[in-house]
Amino acid sequence: MLIHQTVEEIRQTVKKARSQGLTIGFVPTMGYFHEGHLVLMREAKRLCDFVIVSIFVNPMQFGPQEDFARYPRDLERDLDLAGKAQVDAVFSPTTEEMYPAGFSTAVEVEGITESLCGHSRPGHFKGVATVVTMLFNIVSPDKAFFGQKDAQQALVIKRMVRDLQMPLEIVVVPTVREDDGLAMSSRNIFLNPAERKASLCLKKSMETAGQMVAGGEFEVSKILSAVREIITNEPLALIDYVEILSLPDLKPVANLSGPVLLAMAVRFGKTRLIDNTVLCPGGVSYVFNDVKI
Ligand code: PAJ
Repeated sequence: MLIHQTVEEIRQTVKKARSQGLTIGFVPTMGYFHEGHLVLMREAKRLCDFVIVSIFVNPMQFGPQEDFARYPRDLERDLDLAGKAQVDAVFSPTTEEMYPAGFSTAVEVEGITESLCGHSRPGHFKGVATVVTMLFNIVSPDKAFFGQKDAQQALVIKRMVRDLQMPLEIVVVPTVREDDGLAMSSRNIFLNPAERKASLCLKKSMETAGQMVAGGEFEVSKILSAVREIITNEPLALIDYVEILSLPDLKPVANLSGPVLLAMAVRFGKTRLIDNTVLCPGGVSYVFNDVKI
């Protein structure tokens, strides 16, 4: 597996792969790999010939009061896991490589970034859209892989790629969970045993919402009340947001007349977790990857 820190090196590697006629799959990450990341890499390997993974904890997408400094990092372990997942090249640039002195450009996606994490983390998606654009320009992949765990992020990137005519396909992969239902996240290691147990209220609340919809309840306010009650009943959980919004535009809805996104951000101690599920009236199944945006 090739390991590059500079833009010039990874560009050479991309050029060589292209000259051999290989298709390029790209998985952007902030490292500290778990099974969710590895599933994206395996999917990339399944659909593309040459897989590139970036590992970069992007300062631009963290607010001043957020956890950039304490975000978990373990490059050695990540390289080992990427190698085992048959990744062909890792790009792990320094902050200076990505943001040289005088850096002053940004990419902003409007509308769908105003709700959910865009509302509770101002500037977050500007940082994400900017770094992902830079990474796409550096790697020029045929396909890039994102997790449904960060549903709003996947929608923002899909919209950006469409609007800016970026010549690649976005593949969205379903959320990977622990056996007990907690969505895998690099931040889960910060949960103490009591918080880890408490975090199960997220999955439980989403299951209840799914059951309500299956039972014919289409009124958003009623579903939201039930979801919020389950989370509020957990003393260690503090709701940041719990919302049901339309897909793919993420606009408020009063009733379920089609698939909607139930998304939540909840704090357990110092750790903020996000999770989401698609609620579909009428038992239809919904493949997030097929969202036309
Ligand atoms: P990071 O949080 O490291 O996530 C990298 C990718 O893994 C994202 O597409 C995310 O949705 C996906 N992922 C995380 N947990 C997952 C899970 N449990 N199941 C499936 N996929 C999962 O998201 C970022 O990094 C950054 O914002 C980035 C896109 C790299 C830009 O800096």
